[in-house]
Amino acid sequence: MNLANSPFLAACRGEKPERTPIWIMRQAGRYLPEYRKLREKVDFLTLTKTPELAAEATMQPIRRFGMDAAILFSDIMTPLEGMGIELEFAPGPIISRPIRRAEDVEKLHVADPEESIPFVMEAIRIVRREIPETPLIGFAGAPWTLFCYLVQGSGSKNFARARAFLMSEERAASSLLDILARTVASSLEAQARAGAQALMIFDSWAGLLDEGSYRRFCLPALSLLRSRLQKSGLPLIYFPYGGAHFLAAVAELGFDVVGLDWRSSLSRARAVLGPKPALQGNLDPAALFAPRKELIRRAKALLDEARDAGPHIFNLGHGIERDTEIAAVEALVETVHSYGTAGGHS
Ligand code: CP3
Repeated sequence: MNLANSPFLAACRGEKPERTPIWIMRQAGRYLPEYRKLREKVDFLTLTKTPELAAEATMQPIRRFGMDAAILFSDIMTPLEGMGIELEFAPGPIISRPIRRAEDVEKLHVADPEESIPFVMEAIRIVRREIPETPLIGFAGAPWTLFCYLVQGSGSKNFARARAFLMSEERAASSLLDILARTVASSLEAQARAGAQALMIFDSWAGLLDEGSYRRFCLPALSLLRSRLQKSGLPLIYFPYGGAHFLAAVAELGFDVVGLDWRSSLSRARAVLGPKPALQGNLDPAALFAPRKELIRRAKALLDEARDAGPHIFNLGHGIERDTEIAAVEALVETVHSYGTAGGHS
């Protein structure tokens, strides 16, 4: 198959593909026995920094389930070490010296990906060679989501310190978001040059912000990203987790694809976003733990709703949970592939 005609890339361009494509956020990970086997030998950071192993983890879910897109095995935190940040995983990201004052921001610099993360581009080149028929998604964290970890110092339920930094150090906060946007833009450009076919921006903590703060702090950084990456010619996917309350602002950014979490309604999102962007999502990851009949009923209901809501890429509404059963994922992929045709019911 010609890669450009793949259902995933067609949907990204806003066309109606012959059948609905599916991939799953966090599709490479600990619910896969073959991933756990890789992880027995090396820690997570080593895995992301060893191109052959990162490529192997990227391809595992493609081989097992025949997903319509691969996503590079890496992490949103990967480009930050090149900015002068010390990073560990336990299992989530830990920043040994969090950014707490304006002076801390002045010490940081925009990272050059070819210098600091060449292993990412090497992994992309390996995947392109090994599975040339499957589109590959390169990705990065959104500036605000990376800001959350850098200021808070680790994962958190509500990132109160990060939100407070926006209020108490407005200029330093904008400056940090700008450094992050430039670092992320360079990383995504390098991933595009290495052979990725689509680029995704994960804004996992966007939903913590009210619309005013989102517009004030996130829009400038995201529009910088968007205008730099437009030149790559690749489709851009933006996933504002928990961001249903500011989708009107997201609409102004003009991304090719908008990811939705499971609480959003596809048809309501369509009404706010207008006809252009493809929608990606948004089955509740918990549905994979429901009885098989209920899982399939929900997947079909989502496909039915999507049929009237323009171009659609099937996905979960957030990452797959680590104790998800393989057979449930198989049933889901099978359902989307057989039922999700442009022609309707089968
Ligand atoms: O398959 C894929 O989706 C590609 C690889 C990928 C990982 N992280 C691998 C990973 C992607 C796209 C990410 C994105 C990521 N990383 C996000 C955005 C998506 C989201 O979930 O909202 C965020 C917020 C992170 C930061 C991060 N990295 C956290 C919070 C954790 C720990 C959570 C967990 O699952 O335990 C990580 C570590 C991480 N990143 C793992 C994997 C497979 C687990 C590592 C391991 O112990 O093997």
